[in-house]
Amino acid sequence: MRTRARSSQAIQRGRVGGHVLLLLGVMLVVLPSLTACSKEKAVGAPKTRELRLAHNATTTHPVHKGMADMAQRLERISGGAMKLTIYPSEQLGTEREVLELLQLGSLDMGKVSAAKMESFAPSYEVLSLPYVFRDDAHCWAVLKGDVGKEILAAGEENSLRGVCFYDAGKRSFYTIDKPIRTPDDLQGLKIRVQESPTAMALVEALGGAPTPIPWGELYTALQQGVVDGAENNSPSVSDYKHYEVAKFYTLNEHTAVPDVLIISTHTWEKLTEQEQAWLQQAADESVDVQRGFWKESSDAALAQIRAAGVEIIEPNRQPFMDKVRPLLERYRSDPQVADLLDRIEAVESSD
Ligand code: GCU
Repeated sequence: MRTRARSSQAIQRGRVGGHVLLLLGVMLVVLPSLTACSKEKAVGAPKTRELRLAHNATTTHPVHKGMADMAQRLERISGGAMKLTIYPSEQLGTEREVLELLQLGSLDMGKVSAAKMESFAPSYEVLSLPYVFRDDAHCWAVLKGDVGKEILAAGEENSLRGVCFYDAGKRSFYTIDKPIRTPDDLQGLKIRVQESPTAMALVEALGGAPTPIPWGELYTALQQGVVDGAENNSPSVSDYKHYEVAKFYTLNEHTAVPDVLIISTHTWEKLTEQEQAWLQQAADESVDVQRGFWKESSDAALAQIRAAGVEIIEPNRQPFMDKVRPLLERYRSDPQVADLLDRIEAVESSD
């Protein structure tokens, strides 16, 4: 109980602080970057190109570690000519707010879930559809191949250029006090989802009532019973201590939505060709390193969730797959989605 109260207070403090810090963050981070741009014009290209990257994970999360690796590589590869500063834990806002800052050109880079990109580039939605990948090897062959590259490029017309995907494992349901053993158990339950039409449609197809809430507000929403449960991968459930409030975790693994690193096209177009190449190389090289961090931490996270007294349920996935089939058929009636899904299916697993 004491731990729960302490963590909850800490998270509350973090959230309140987060909102105040958002404003301060925009003043301290974004405004200097705008002045820097104008100075740059007056005195020529700066010696060190400094970029700022914001995201919503903690610094112990494997996706943050992947980006920290990228930052080190970038500095090394560019011989110190480029530097990346990372702002974690929603310091500069929710994922939606980060994407808006990127569109304005007030922030250089951001990491979001691919689900959040759907409203800016529709082709991202296939990545949020259920049971799209046969296994990890298939998923990564798709993400690193032509389909993945095409999706990354699709945000450009909205100023959001995708740089690379990062592993965000598989998403599964967790609930406060009602165990989910079959899809029927979701009937009528309020389930927090990301701000993504496909995630909403998915929970609806399974009989639940989808409730979009920003990630940083979810602990409190669970604690206050605003929702009955949520869905995510084990490192995220563990890092945000949602196991303190949700006592059942059902590994039905309905989606494998990756994370995606985005650069504002306003920043990208300011970089020299050499700088663009360094940045892309550092990002590409960090992907496999990040996947390694993911593997290490997802098992440890699951063990931590179990140790906290959460019942881990390993259900038969077939009834979940059967129940979402009509949803997949509905999406397939859009020829562009059907084409992407066919191409994804045709990709051979590579590793
Ligand atoms: C994952 C993902 C985050 C996202 C979160 C969510 O943790 O990595 O980028 O914000 O899910 O469900 O909102």
